[in-house]
Amino acid sequence: MSKHIVVIPGDGIGKEITDAAVKVLQKIDDKFHIGLTFETKDAGGTAYDKYGTPLPDDTVEAAKKADAVLFGAVGGDQWDDVEPSLRPERAVLGLRKALGLYVNLRPVKVSSVLAEYSPLKPDIVTGTDIVIVRELIGGIYFGDKCESEIHDGVERAWDLENYSVPEVQRITRFAMEAARKRRGKVTSVDKSNVLATSRLWRRTVIDVAKDYPDIVLNHYYVDNCAMQLALNPTQFDVIVTGNLFGDILSDEAAVLGGSIGMMPSASIGELTSLYEPIHGSAPDIAGQGIANPCATILSAAMLLRYSLDEDAAAAAIEAAVDKALADGWRTADLYKEGFKKADTHTMTDVVCQYI
Ligand code: NAD
Ligand code: IPM
Ligand code: MN
Repeated sequence: MSKHIVVIPGDGIGKEITDAAVKVLQKIDDKFHIGLTFETKDAGGTAYDKYGTPLPDDTVEAAKKADAVLFGAVGGDQWDDVEPSLRPERAVLGLRKALGLYVNLRPVKVSSVLAEYSPLKPDIVTGTDIVIVRELIGGIYFGDKCESEIHDGVERAWDLENYSVPEVQRITRFAMEAARKRRGKVTSVDKSNVLATSRLWRRTVIDVAKDYPDIVLNHYYVDNCAMQLALNPTQFDVIVTGNLFGDILSDEAAVLGGSIGMMPSASIGELTSLYEPIHGSAPDIAGQGIANPCATILSAAMLLRYSLDEDAAAAAIEAAVDKALADGWRTADLYKEGFKKADTHTMTDVVCQYI
């Protein structure tokens, strides 16, 4: 039986990093005989330039039918002035919505090898092992918006945040179940001292938690949580939060492990799941062949684990990435004197060799 993967490279470094992950998946297939097949689809600014839309229907239909989607990144300055509903970023937002991907899992694990790359002192960051469970298809990202309205000569724009009880219940349950398989702790993050949506969020989380008496639950306001991540990151196990706070906190948490170029994610929901690095299209380094492919390669490992039930193959990728780092291979984002400098191709080849 074959397993069909739709690959959506997108813009900027998107093609470089998805090419790398596909190469690793092909190596995995040689070894584990999963029967992987790949199909590439357009999205983002490159799709807008070709077809006048960042998310062609054909891409959505292929994603819905696939066993899993591997996504690169979208966006770039050249599309900054495009009409907002046609911006490249609409592609990833539209796919998340079309596939009902209400969970975004963002693991942040600081290996002993990379602890010294953290902007924090090794004794603070060593042992950090967090999963951020970000709500992905609600909140301010998908509320009513107004780009611009002029009243009495004053221009105004707005984005309205809203969350319903069922939306908060399902993401909370997912976080509680995830914590059960880990260290049994959930931290819910909100701004309930100010926002109505956050008050509903906190009330609902407390209510759902009654079904999980074995889980230790605590709450932080998002501003304090941002500080706690830098002050004492090992206190966290599972963090559950809304769409916007999850976006911001995960970029902050990503650097605990040295580089955003190492951080994978899985978006899970009602249809096909989608796997993508948490970073963007990195226009500042696109086309140079120096992007760190590990975030996307590790996203491919999550794909094998969550969509294809191929735990051994996923673990083989993770072990190969760990070994490449332990052996001193470093892409530009992590390079220091005394290490072996790797461009995107070299890092990918080293990982393939170690599988
Ligand atoms: P970014 O994540 O693209 O880049 C931030 C910084 O991290 C840059 O200095 C970049 O060079 C570096 N970086 C990112 N990935 C790296 C990698 N794999 N290896 C080495 N260095 C890496 O964020 P940004 O600059 O704020 O956004 C650029 C574009 O990407 C924007 O258009 C934004 O909307 C888009 N974006 C898309 C996604 C997505 O498609 N899911 C996610 C985030 C940002
Ligand atoms: C991410 C990105 C996206 C988000 C953008 C590109 C829409 O920042 O995946 O983290 O905000 O969700
Ligand atoms: Mn982001």
